[in-house]
Amino acid sequence: MASPLSRIFVLTGAGISAESGLGTFRDRGGIWDRFDPLRLATPEAFAADPDTVLDFYNWRRRNALAAEPNPAHRALARAEARLAAAGGELFLCTQNVDDLHERGGARGVVHMHGELLRARCTQCAHTFACRDDIARTDPCPRCARIGLRPDIVWFGEMPMHLEAIDAALARADLFVAVGTSGSVYPAAGYVAQARRLGIRTCEVNLEPSDNAALFDERRYGPAGEIVPAFLAAHGLG
Ligand code: OAD
Repeated sequence: MASPLSRIFVLTGAGISAESGLGTFRDRGGIWDRFDPLRLATPEAFAADPDTVLDFYNWRRRNALAAEPNPAHRALARAEARLAAAGGELFLCTQNVDDLHERGGARGVVHMHGELLRARCTQCAHTFACRDDIARTDPCPRCARIGLRPDIVWFGEMPMHLEAIDAALARADLFVAVGTSGSVYPAAGYVAQARRLGIRTCEVNLEPSDNAALFDERRYGPAGEIVPAFLAAHGLG
C-alpha cells in the first residue's frame, strides 16, 4: 500500500461518465465528432440560433438524467468521505456538466464548466436548478423576462470557480486526472501547475492523454475499474 495521503485534488473529465453511457467529446463517435462545437457551444452560436443550441443541451440534459453513476463516481465519493473524516480533503473538480458525481454520493463537487441541471437568465444573471427542457420563450423565474440559457461554460467563456480551484491545487499533495484528454484549458494546464508546485501527479485514463508525459504515474483502463483499485491501494477504498 502507498503512503497515506491527506489532500488529493481530483480532476475528472468525460471519460469518468463514459461507462454510465454518456458520450465523451473527442473519442471516435464522440460528441464533437458528430456535432460542430462552433454551432452548439459558443455564445455566438446561441445568439445566431438559440433553438438549435437549447435543443442540443435539452438532449444532453435528458441523457444525463437517464444515466446512473458508475463505480468510479462512487469510489471517489467514498474516498472523499474517508479523507474528510480523517481531517484531510478530496477536492473534486470536474469538467463534466452531468450530476453523476453528486448522485454517486460526492458532496463538494466543483463544476468548472457549469451544470446541465442549472439554468441562467441572460437578462438578470439569475441562476437556478432546472431539470426540464429550456425553451427560447421561457421566462426567468426572477425577472420574468425571456432569455434563459443552460448554466454551462461555452467556448470563449471563462470557466467557473477558478480561484477556489487554484487554492485547492496549491494545498494538495497528489493531483489525479481521470478520464480527460487534456485538450481544454485551463484544466489541461493543471498537471503542469501541479508539477511546478512539487505535487505528485497521476493520470487514470483509457489511453494516454495529450499530457501523459507530464504525469509521474499512469494507470490505463476503464475508470470504473481503475479508480476504485487506485483509491483502495492508497487506503481509501
Ligand atoms: P474528452 O472527450 O476530450 O476526453 C475524454 C477522455 O476520456 C479521453 O482521453 C478518453 O480516452 C477517456 N476515456 C474514454 N472512456 C473512458 C473510460 N471508460 N475510462 C477512462 N477514461 C476514458 O473529454 P474531456 O477531457 O472531459 O467542455 O473534455 C474537456 C472539455 O471539452 C469538456 O468539459 C467539454 C469539451 O468541449 C466544454 O463543453 C466547455
